[in-house]
Order: sequence, then structure tokens, then C-alpha cells
Amino acid sequence: MSSSEKAFYLTTPIYYVNDAPHIGHAYTTTAGDVLTRWHRQRGEEVWFLTGVDEHGTKVERAAEAGGVTPQQWVDRLVSTDWLPVLETVDAANDDFIRTTSSRHIEGVQRFWEVLRENGYVFAAPYEGPYCVGCEEFKLPGDLLDGEGEYAGQKVCPVHGRPVEQLLEDNWFFQLSAFQQRLIDHYEANPEAIQPQSAYNEVMSFLRQGLVDISMSRSSVGWGIPLPWDEKQVVYVWFDALLNYATAVGFGAAPDTTEGKLFARTWPADVHLVGKDILRFHAVYWPAMLMAANLPLPKKVFAHGWLLVGGEKMSKTKLTGISPDQIIDHFGSDAFRYYFLRAIAFGQDGSFSWEDMSARYTAELANGLGNLASRATAMVGKYCEGVLPSAPAVTDAEVVLHDALTAAAAEADRAILELDFLTGITAVKSFIDLVNGYVTEQAPWVLAKDPVNDDRLHTVLYTICESLRAVAVLYNPLMPKAMTSLWSQLGAEAQLGPIGEQRVADVGTWGRLQPGAIITKGDSLFPRIEEVA
Ligand code: ME8
Ligand code: MG
Repeated sequence: MSSSEKAFYLTTPIYYVNDAPHIGHAYTTTAGDVLTRWHRQRGEEVWFLTGVDEHGTKVERAAEAGGVTPQQWVDRLVSTDWLPVLETVDAANDDFIRTTSSRHIEGVQRFWEVLRENGYVFAAPYEGPYCVGCEEFKLPGDLLDGEGEYAGQKVCPVHGRPVEQLLEDNWFFQLSAFQQRLIDHYEANPEAIQPQSAYNEVMSFLRQGLVDISMSRSSVGWGIPLPWDEKQVVYVWFDALLNYATAVGFGAAPDTTEGKLFARTWPADVHLVGKDILRFHAVYWPAMLMAANLPLPKKVFAHGWLLVGGEKMSKTKLTGISPDQIIDHFGSDAFRYYFLRAIAFGQDGSFSWEDMSARYTAELANGLGNLASRATAMVGKYCEGVLPSAPAVTDAEVVLHDALTAAAAEADRAILELDFLTGITAVKSFIDLVNGYVTEQAPWVLAKDPVNDDRLHTVLYTICESLRAVAVLYNPLMPKAMTSLWSQLGAEAQLGPIGEQRVADVGTWGRLQPGAIITKGDSLFPRIEEVA
């Protein structure tokens, strides 16, 4: 792998630090982490970016309510919550961007200078509605009629609260100039917005026509000053979206470290977002890039919402569940597994303790955990902890070899398409098959008579070799437990670190060699008492 190779570049949204993260934010970050770990295990170079969005009215007001300056507010929350949550969910991001950092501020100012030079920025008054929850200039068609306490007012459909009426002298971005080019681009590249429902939504929005949009705010103090008009700050979305460029060295000279990173990463392969911010990523962002003559991202994937009582879980509405609450109880691996296993990526879903407990017990503790502990215990008991060879292969084993090859191919195909559920199901079905095989072959019965030793050894080898493959396939999803399984199988000594195992090799039968030292370690998924 040469350093000039194009890296698989994946981003998450940068989250507002108006409050602490909830499981909705952890969901996106986890999905991005699983996908990037998968690409790393395919032997690709990867760049995984996440970070925080620190400017704007929402953050400014949260700081004011907290009685501190915006800078103090964001510094505190980033260190107490937003950086630690990455550890909590076990994310292996390559970088973390803050929009208050100088690399970002300078890059944003440079970018808007370029757009102004290119003729896409002009001064004009803005009059219209604004939702602070969305940090968005709303179009009349976006709003709903308020009910109850908000009767007679227009409310935001996402936040359920009245919008504010703005009248300010702003600078505008000439978005309308890009309508046809965007339509042409997406007609030629339908895979650039996924899933299909997101593609359809963007196309119908584009076909309704684009209007020019404010790129600055004159009544907001907390933001990046316009280089040519220091009384105004860059509208927070036109500051935030640029993180994807400023974090990888946009504008740096090609022979610098930053410039080389830009050449290696740009454009992004996947911008992973929730469907709430699809329009910003699939309309405004590519229009900005067109205006700057920069290549467009290859894909925006908009996943669904975690719901509470049928509505989007939200910081603004204080309906968030903290990732710690779940992870303290079940661990990070089970958290990662559950959300990608229980909800089809792209659709909405809800979290429930009952469902999570049930899947944890059935699929992780009983399904995979029990298989691993039985396998390592039996090799300990019948073979003194040394993996035997497989001298008596029958059709029952060949069925498993073939099933593994198919599962590995299916998981790879599905995960590359961000269909995590199908990818996980492929591996899980293979585990179920191996568990069925253990029951049928009943090695504890074979062990009663030395005449069966060849079969006993073949069965034990087959189970351990199956687990070798499962460990590699599940490592991007559950790195802690699979690293532990890998060492229990004695695989590290033979094959090297688990993270260096290649997806392309995983279906090749016979990689774990007889003689591996098998140890029964801690239970991978300890049983958990019911949660009240
Ligand atoms: O929109 N279900 O930040 P944000 C699933 N700063 N995902 C959820 C979720 C839920 N209930 N709630 C949040 C912003 N998310 C901007 C982004 S990017 C240049 C700027 C996740 O703090 C999901 O990824 O409101 C969603 O798009 C994002 O957090 C919004 O986070
Ligand atoms: Mg939001």
C-alpha cells in the first residue's frame, strides 16, 4: 500500500455541542467506524473523520443559558463528553475536527474568498423564517401550522417549535446557478445519494427549483467572520460543511503534509449522515464544491432516525438516551452489534431494553459466546489445549466450508453497500450452522471412545477454524470481543494481529493450523441480569 494511493475517506456529521451526545450521534459514529474498519480489513488505506460543530445560534444560546462564554461552553463539553464518547463506543477515527480550530477557520475564510472571486457571492437582505433547532433558513413549504400553545404560528416539522422571523442584511450564495448541474450530476450518478428514498427526495427538491440562500448572518456573533465584512459571520452550515475539506488540508500547498493528505483523501467516498441533514449534504454542499471547482463526494448515505415515542430522539427536545447508560450495562461491542443488527440501515428504529436484552442473550451470549466457550473448553479437555488436525473430513465439514465461503462473500458485498443488517445476518447464519453442527456431531459423545479420535479431532478442528473466520468477519463490528476470541484461538501467534487479517482470505478454509494453543479465556459475552 503506497502513501499516494487514494484512501477510502469517510466522514460523520460534525455534531452540535449545544449539549452532550445521545445514542443517535453514537449510532452514526458507530456505523462509520464499522464500515471503515471493514475497509481497513480489505487492505485499503482509510481516513475516518468525525468532529464537532461549535458555532451558531443554538450553541451560543446554550452557553448563555449555562452562564459561560460560547468558547468555554464548547471547550468543556468537548472534553467532558464529545471526545470521551468516541472511547465509549470504541471508535478508531483518524482525526477529530473542531470548527473553532484555526485550521478550520482559515480554510473556511479561504474557501469563501474563492467563491466570491468566482462570482457566486452577493449582498442582499434576507427576510423569512429560521429554525434555530435546525439552524436553517426555512422555505414556506417546509413549515407546519402550530397547534395548542403554538396555534396561529408556523412550526418546524422536526423540532415542533415556532420558527423565528429574520430580517437582516446578509451575503448570499448563488445556489440557483447549480440547479441543472446538480440534476445532471445525480441523473448520471444515481448511486451518489442513498438509500433510494433519499435520492428521490433530493431529486424532487431540485426539480422544484433552487433559490439563492444566505451564506452569512449579521445578527449572530458566534461564528467565523467573513474576510471581506468582519461585521458578519459565516452562516453556521456554510462553516460546518467545509470541515470535510479543512480537516484534510484544503488549500494547503501540494508538497506539504496537509496538501498530500488532501490529494490522498479528496473527494470523500462516503458522507454518512442522518436523514435530517440530507438536503445540506446532497444539495448545498455539492453546489459549494461546484462553485469552487472541486470534485464532488462519491456518496451521501442518509440513515434513519432513532425514535422516542414515534419522534426523532433529540438534544433540543431532551429525549436523548446517553450511550453510557447502555454501554455501562452491555459493553461497547453489544451496543455496536445491536444497533446495526436490529435496524435496517436507512430506516427508522427504536431502542428498547427488552429487545436489546433478548438479542444479547440469544445471539451473543448463547449463540456466539457459548460456541466459543464450548470449543475452547473441549480442546482443553480432550486435546490438552492444542488444536488437533482434521484427519477424517466428511460431507458435514464440506457443508461448513462452503457455507463459510458464501457467508464471507455475502458479508463483503452487503457491508460495502452499507447494508449492515444483511452482512451481520450472513455471519450469524453461519454461526447458527456451526452450532447445529456441534449438536449433531456431539464431540462429547465421540470423546467417550478412543476409536473415534479421528472424528473427534476433525470436529474440534472444524469448530475452531470456523471461529477463526467468525472472529475476522465480526472484528470490525465487535473489536474487543473478537480480539479476545482471536487470542483464545491461538491465532495471533500463527497469523498475526486480527486487524491485519484480510476479508479476501477469510473464506479460505484451513488458515488456523493444527498445533495452535487454545485457551479458555473470559466469557466473550457474560450473562447479564435483567434490567428493571
Ligand atoms: O445536524 N437518530 O448536528 P446534530 C439517528 N451540526 N441519528 C441521529 C439522531 C437520531 N435521533 N439524532 C442525531 C447537525 N443523529 C450539524 C451537522 S455536518 C457538516 C453538521 C445523528 O448535533 C445523525 O447523524 O444535530 C444526524 O444527522 C446528526 O446526528 C445530527 O447531529
Ligand atoms: Mg440536529
